[in-house]
Amino acid sequence: MLEGKNINLRVMEKEDLPLIAEWFSSPEVFGEYNPLRQMSRTDAEKIFENPLELKPFFIEKKDGSKIGFVAHFYVLHVAGRQLEIGYSLVPSERGKGYCTEAAKIMVDYLFLSKEAMRIQAQTDPRNVASQKVLEKVGFKREGTVRKNFFMRGEWRDAYLYSILREEWKEPRLLTKTTAH
Ligand SMILES: CC(C)(COP(=O)(O)OP(=O)(O)OC[C@H]1O[C@@H](n2cnc3c(N)ncnc32)[C@H](O)[C@@H]1OP(=O)(O)O)[C@@H](O)C(=O)NCCC(=O)NCCS
Repeated sequence: MLEGKNINLRVMEKEDLPLIAEWFSSPEVFGEYNPLRQMSRTDAEKIFENPLELKPFFIEKKDGSKIGFVAHFYVLHVAGRQLEIGYSLVPSERGKGYCTEAAKIMVDYLFLSKEAMRIQAQTDPRNVASQKVLEKVGFKREGTVRKNFFMRGEWRDAYLYSILREEWKEPRLLTKTTAH
């Protein structure tokens, strides 16, 4: 578990499959700027055996209630691979700073644990809340990836953001890691 001030990040386990399938299939949790999907528990199991090495963490309040997730994964390219993050919160817990804290903890954790030079993220240009999160964490907008995702019946652009190791410099929020 990765501990922050108001929230912790807890690695998802196979016993969490029902909630993972529910959230990843939910247009409310995923929001209007993520793909529509229907995920079964069997599909959810594949999250743990995939070439992108996708690793989802629950965002938990200090009382243990699960309010969303943040994940890291690799975007594959013949010349190498890019480390990327994504996140979503249940609607009732948005606008309270939890995602900013979760993303800061994740960036601390990734730069401390992986030999990555950069961490990237992509958002829909209309997703102002997500852009604010990234900018508060220290990501910089690199540009627009045109017609990057087919989502909800149309090709959509994405803003590409990144934070470099030299911009991060040192851990800012991750205070403690524990085994449970
Ligand atoms: C994007 C998301 C994760 C942000 O989480 P959050 O916990 O609400 O974010 P925070 O509270 O840490 O910060 C959000 C910032 O965006 C602002 N914001 C929230 N909703 C907004 C909106 N609809 N329009 C403009 N700004 C908005 C908040 O005021 C806050 O800015 P401030 O610190 O200057 O006041 C959340 O809105 C969400 O789950 N959305 C649906 C899924 C999604 O879009 N995921 C990202 C895909 S790239």
